[in-house]
Amino acid sequence: MAIPIRLTVNGKPVDAQVEPHTLLVQFLREQLHLTGTHVGCDTAQCGACTVHLDGRAVKSCNMLAVQADGASVTTIEGLAPNGQLHPMQEAFRECHGLQCGFCTPGMVMAATALLKERPNADAQAIRDQLEGNLCRCTGYHNIVRAVQQGQSGMRSGQAAASAE
Ligand code: FES
Ligand code: FES
Repeated sequence: MAIPIRLTVNGKPVDAQVEPHTLLVQFLREQLHLTGTHVGCDTAQCGACTVHLDGRAVKSCNMLAVQADGASVTTIEGLAPNGQLHPMQEAFRECHGLQCGFCTPGMVMAATALLKERPNADAQAIRDQLEGNLCRCTGYHNIVRAVQQGQSGMRSGQAAASAE
């Protein structure tokens, strides 16, 4: 029996019907066609499915869509709403923080959630935050460099916004 849910996804209101067993990641990918959120393991280990739920990074394979009822969800698509890359996405591109790119949406979502909460997080805090996000390709060094560069970009963006 489908259950009605109402939530905000990437800033837009969404009304939908979901089965009680539908995972949030399935809902995002299959019903809303937001396929930037990846499924790597389905067992809450790899972090490829990380999205923001009311500003916090969560693994969307580890919760039901009905649990997001009333919440605000941001996916990787929501970070670049007008096609302009978020500073963290730019930084991953510039610092070669990706190879195949499969883990990248989850890495970017985990990193941006951390830096919104802790804008001055140091390299160790960044590594700690990304502990739940696995990458099969890069060896992580460039990912941490990218997050630090994205941190500077996010700070400059915030400074510019508060000066306006
Ligand atoms: S798909 Fe969710 S943690 Fe791997
Ligand atoms: S870039 Fe390939 S899994 Fe991370």
